[in-house]
Amino acid sequence: MGYDAKFRIWRGDTDAGGLEDYTVVVNEGEVVLDIIHRLQATQAPDLAVRWNCKAGKCGSCSAEVNGRPKLLCMTRMSTFTEDEVVTVTPMRTFPVIRDLVTDVSFNYAKAREIQSFTPPEGLGPGEYRMKQVDVQRSQEFRKCIECFLCQDTCHVVRDHEENKQNFAGPRFLMRVAELDMHPLDVAERRDTARTEHGLGLCNITKCCTDVCPEQIKITDNALIPMKERVADRHYDPLVWLGNKLFRR
Ligand code: FES
Repeated sequence: MGYDAKFRIWRGDTDAGGLEDYTVVVNEGEVVLDIIHRLQATQAPDLAVRWNCKAGKCGSCSAEVNGRPKLLCMTRMSTFTEDEVVTVTPMRTFPVIRDLVTDVSFNYAKAREIQSFTPPEGLGPGEYRMKQVDVQRSQEFRKCIECFLCQDTCHVVRDHEENKQNFAGPRFLMRVAELDMHPLDVAERRDTARTEHGLGLCNITKCCTDVCPEQIKITDNALIPMKERVADRHYDPLVWLGNKLFRR
C-alpha cells in the first residue's frame, strides 16, 4: 500500500538555496532515489540529482539523508516511519553545483597526486606473478565504488576547508595503503603518505568506515596499518637505521 510522505529537499545553486517541502507518494519497496525521480516527474522537473546505475555500484547518487551520508539508491523508504519527514541535502564537504549535485573534483585532484602503480623496472607485461595470499589484504580495497561518502563524512575536511590542500582523505589514503601492500609495487609510499597525503591528520574516529556502502574496513584494515608502517619507518630506531642503510 502506498502512502503520502513528507520530503524536505535542498534546492539551490552556488549562490543561494534552502530546504523546500514536498508531499509525494511512496510505494512498497521503493528507495529514496525512486522518490526523487517521482518528484522530477510530477512536481519538480528541474530538480538536479546525479545517478547512474540505481544498483549501488556506480557511486553517483551520494547525498545526505537526514544528515547522514548515503547512496540515494540504496536507502530504503522502509527504514523511515510513514510520518517521518525525510530530509535530502547535497554532500556538505563539496561545493554545490545545483540542488543535490555537488562538485567532487577535489577527489579527482587527490587521485592524481598519488603515484600510480610502479612495478620493478624491466618487468614486462605478462611477467607479473603473484599468489592470492599476496593480494589478500589489499583486495578488499578494490571494492571501492568511489561514491566519496567517506570523503564527505571525514571531519578533517568536512568542517575544515583549510585542511583540504594537505589531506587526501580516507578514500585516497586507502589507495596509498593498497599500493604499499601490493607485492609488486616498488614506489616509496610511507614518507609520502605522511608528508604529501596528510596521513597524520587522520585520528581514526572510523566515521569513514561507518558510511562505506561496500563495508570496507577503511580505518582498521588500511589507515591504521599504514600509520603503523609509517611509525615503524620513522620511530623504531632499528628499522630507521636499516632503512637508511638498505632502503629499497
Ligand atoms: Fe549508482 Fe546509486 S545510482 S550507486
